[in-house]
Amino acid sequence: SQDLKTALVGRKVICYDAVDSTNLVLKNLAREGAEDGTVVVADSQGTGRGRMERAFFSPPGKGIWVSILLRPTFLPQDAPKCTLMAAVAVARAMEAFGLRAEIKWPNDILHDGRKLVGILTEMSAEMDRVNYVVIGIGINVNIAPEDFPAELRAIATSLMQMKGAPLPRVAFLQELLRALDDLYASVQREGFAPVLAAWREYAVTLGQEVRVIGPAGEEFEGVAADIDAEGALLVDTAEGRRRVLAGDVSIRPR
Ligand code: BTN
Repeated sequence: SQDLKTALVGRKVICYDAVDSTNLVLKNLAREGAEDGTVVVADSQGTGRGRMERAFFSPPGKGIWVSILLRPTFLPQDAPKCTLMAAVAVARAMEAFGLRAEIKWPNDILHDGRKLVGILTEMSAEMDRVNYVVIGIGINVNIAPEDFPAELRAIATSLMQMKGAPLPRVAFLQELLRALDDLYASVQREGFAPVLAAWREYAVTLGQEVRVIGPAGEEFEGVAADIDAEGALLVDTAEGRRRVLAGDVSIRPR
């Protein structure tokens, strides 16, 4: 963090060539007592994981596959908002490289409707105390269209494709960790309200007609009106306003 000029995030950065999943590695370190702000980054992941246990494509040399350990003072029910905080941090890092981010609620960063970044937040809590939060961020940096497996080609893209030129991975990671350090310090000081306000600036979901698909496959449609203080999406349907919590739904344009 001396080189990074961060207060906390990246105090310790552990780099690997190849791991199964940076989230798994960091959760193990967390159980062994690793400190607040510890970062694990890998050049490639064998079993990178996304939400809903999906595999996450993490080839060597072309991406940022990173996990950040936090030991926050906020309550366990606030932890899902770390996903929104991470999305804002990525958006800020992108801005430092001249790229404008669009965030799809809750955690996807898109370009031309295709995914650039995935975020997976995992938490361990006991009673009313957070033991740790691990925020995993996967960024497709220098991935060419033909590098993606066929099934991802239509739905995934990269910062390089967006910019039309490769980006320096280490410099991007530094910007990301600095942005996250700033945001985390503000959350610890004054809560999530400023993070939610910043998130709204990049949100493309708000104001749009969406279809929500729940965990049991139930569906409904409406207009995504806003997010509330919990980070839940508020959807105005014909039957009234419904509240959609992150983690257990997928949404798509109608
Ligand atoms: C998603 O889009 O569903 C979330 C993807 C999260 C991927 C990142 S890559 C670094 C960290 N390690 C993992 O195994 N997953 C996250």
